[in-house]
Amino acid sequence: MHNAIPVIAIDGPSASGKGTIAQLVADVLGFAYLDSGALYRVVAFAAQQKNIDWNDAEAVAEYAKTLNIQFKNGQVYLNATDISDEIRTEAMGKGASQVAVHAPLRAALVELQHSFCQSPGLVADGRDMGTVIFPEASLKIFLTASTEVRAKRRYQQLIGNNQSANYESILSDLQERDARDKNRASAPLIMAKDAILLETDQLTISEAVNVVLQNYQHKMYE
Ligand code: C5P
Repeated sequence: MHNAIPVIAIDGPSASGKGTIAQLVADVLGFAYLDSGALYRVVAFAAQQKNIDWNDAEAVAEYAKTLNIQFKNGQVYLNATDISDEIRTEAMGKGASQVAVHAPLRAALVELQHSFCQSPGLVADGRDMGTVIFPEASLKIFLTASTEVRAKRRYQQLIGNNQSANYESILSDLQERDARDKNRASAPLIMAKDAILLETDQLTISEAVNVVLQNYQHKMYE
């Protein structure tokens, strides 16, 4: 199904820079971009609005099936309302990682994620892009950075967005989310066997983007 259309899967832990790097790679190549984490954030947000318990797997999955989630010009819409700012909080990051453990919810979001795979290509970022959603991806990148560097980046991002931020609590939240993402039974955060490991502690964003693009060129002509 996805063989004809090139997909670049970029997976990795929270705040590893995946989103920024994936979006820039997509821009350079003229590809679509899927921010799969945003889907789990929207579900967490919508469930909270409706007083649905994040731990109730069936209720969360059933409710998710009724939601109309759209991406337009980098903004995220739920039932035609722009909720981009609401889902970018630390609380919704935490909520997303709680609802994301549920297999029925993950199954409910598969088709929507596949629908992003359109010509001329897709860059998809998340935790299970290369392992579960697009196992036939042309290129798989596993992007990491140390917990401290990721916490610093997240701190700066929040401050830049005029949100309040506390480094110590960001660090402990990241550690908690990493543990939950790696240890869950359904689609845990794991590097695909055929993925390329990209450690970004010492790289600028544009250097990381170039490494991804070089690897993509290499794959296309190998
Ligand atoms: O990438 P982001 O931080 O926005 O993702 C929020 C949460 O959604 C992650 O901590 C993870 O638990 C979940 N997620 C996931 N699978 C994906 C993308 C995100 O489980 N493909």
